[in-house]
Amino acid sequence: LARGSLTADLAGRHVVVSAGGTREALDPVRFLGNRSTGMQGYALAATAVARGARVTLVSANVSLPAPAGAEVRPVTSARELREAVLAAAADADAVVMAAAVADFRPDTVAAEKIKKTGGRPAPITLVENPDILAELSRDRAREGQVVVGFAAETDHVLEHGRDKLRRKGCDLLVVNQVGDGMAFGTPDNQAVVLGPDGLAVEIPRGPKEDLADRVWDLVAERLGEPGR
Ligand code: CTP
Ligand code: CA
Repeated sequence: LARGSLTADLAGRHVVVSAGGTREALDPVRFLGNRSTGMQGYALAATAVARGARVTLVSANVSLPAPAGAEVRPVTSARELREAVLAAAADADAVVMAAAVADFRPDTVAAEKIKKTGGRPAPITLVENPDILAELSRDRAREGQVVVGFAAETDHVLEHGRDKLRRKGCDLLVVNQVGDGMAFGTPDNQAVVLGPDGLAVEIPRGPKEDLADRVWDLVAERLGEPGR
């Protein structure tokens, strides 16, 4: 088999994966969004199912077929994603935040479609969204719950990654170098996984499923005894 570790090492575990990209409404027909396709998150969900986990997949605006065996919870905005992830995390052994969460949202949503008026367009005022990963890391729903973040960086990848890991307080941060034809909407990915103990595991360029399996390897090593 091509997959690295097709053992049921996640049997009896509940894992939560967020995938896709949130949309922040401007009016009934428009939103602020991002380019995330959900491929990495869906690969994480599929590989976790293959390794025996019960998987809750919180899916933000993804147009991919649902991975067989995962329970999909569709959401649209960052605040909806937060609600769904926190609810599912209550009894989870691990939470992986692969979704691209909008940092900001428009402070008001127009009740009707915004129209051209002939004059200067009204500016859009933004407010900050909650930081779900930081919240999950701070208020662990269960002792020993493993919390994993993703980050895409264009430059000073390790420096920014280390900094982000510290700020978020998560157990693992998967840092992608974006650009060079990788990351958004491509089947391949390449990353370095950082941990607070100085851990830095390089994952060479390859299918997103392989990266997913490597992430689950690192998660599995950090899980405590099952069945609490
Ligand atoms: N994330 C989150 N909630 C947010 C923003 C991000 O949970 N409001 C999560 C993402 O799902 C990802 C991780 O945090 O797992 C890192 O996202 P990133 O956008 O790289 O981090 P930010 O803190 O938003 O930093 P930046 O200013 O670089 O965007
Ligand atoms: Ca961000």
